[in-house]
Amino acid sequence: MAGLVLAVETSCDETAAAVVADGREVRSSVVSSQIDLHAHFGGVVPELAGRAHLERIVPVVAEALGAAGLAGAPAPPVDAVAATVGPGLIGALLVGVSFAKALAMAWGVPFVGVNHLEGHLYASLLEDPKIGLPAVVVLVSGGHSLIVKMTGPRAYEVLGETVDDAAGEAFDKVARYLGLSYPGGPAIEQAAAQGDGGAIAFPRPMLREGLDLSFSGLKTAVVHYVRAHPEVANADVAASFQAAVVEILVTKALRAARLTAARSICLAGGVAANGPLREAFRAAAAKAGLGVYLPSRAMCTDNAAMIGAVAHFQLAAEGPTALGAGAEPGLGFPGARAR
Ligand code: KG4
Ligand code: ZN
Repeated sequence: MAGLVLAVETSCDETAAAVVADGREVRSSVVSSQIDLHAHFGGVVPELAGRAHLERIVPVVAEALGAAGLAGAPAPPVDAVAATVGPGLIGALLVGVSFAKALAMAWGVPFVGVNHLEGHLYASLLEDPKIGLPAVVVLVSGGHSLIVKMTGPRAYEVLGETVDDAAGEAFDKVARYLGLSYPGGPAIEQAAAQGDGGAIAFPRPMLREGLDLSFSGLKTAVVHYVRAHPEVANADVAASFQAAVVEILVTKALRAARLTAARSICLAGGVAANGPLREAFRAAAAKAGLGVYLPSRAMCTDNAAMIGAVAHFQLAAEGPTALGAGAEPGLGFPGARAR
């Protein structure tokens, strides 16, 4: 079983590499963000992302190996090399996948192709191995929103998912409509800090029913409101929109925990970096007598440490990924509906 895994992550706009020991201990984690490169265009430009990954992958991997004390170590310096195979942008994914396969081949160690979404889910366990299981994990990123019951490493059951937009996508779209900077999540959070979350009663779609999520109607309601009230302060719109997302996610997490007798609730994915959302999860869990696990902000957004953690358990359970397997831009979460 692999002890040391070198993992790379290039699914979107972060070039990342990490060395993880036994799926538990992060020896190094390097993230080179391309936010500055894409901000000017208001979103990720796939061709630019692919080229930037290509330029950065060698120094980022070298830095991760160096920070783990493996610079100049006799080959192979690690027991396996992992990469995110999907979901993500094809040109971006291919850089990491090809690079990881080449290293694995050169070093004569296994290659492990990892699902990016499993990586996000794993962030809580990686930082807090004593997490109370089963746990309900609310995975909210730029492309996906899922509610998953986790009973152990790689033991998941999808309880609910978005029927339209992802939570992060709603943040990004509302931010763009309000003329805020990219990425939208942090920009909305910052604007909302000056506003009143109770100023505008935006709808909370599907709040009272089930465990699925919906954000498209909320986003449209924001656009209609701002069109009808051009004088409204951006801060109040941002705060009221954020309050709606927070209420939806907390309500669904508690409902999921109740229905599955879970012991704790967790957040994962880029949107989990949101301060008011984290606070609301903390407060709701305390009130309901549940454990709560909130990955550090660095672990919420894209990184390679979470990929290295999954790779360890995946390799033990399923063995290496064939070198002939390619990138899978449309890969979904195991057991989730295809969108
Ligand atoms: O997980 P992630 O880094 O990349 C994907 O796999 O999609 O998530 C990116 C998403 C973006 O939609 C971004 O706006 C959102 O996470 N995000 C936030 C915050 N930081 C990042 N959303 C709300 N509040 C934040 N502070
Ligand atoms: Zn992600």
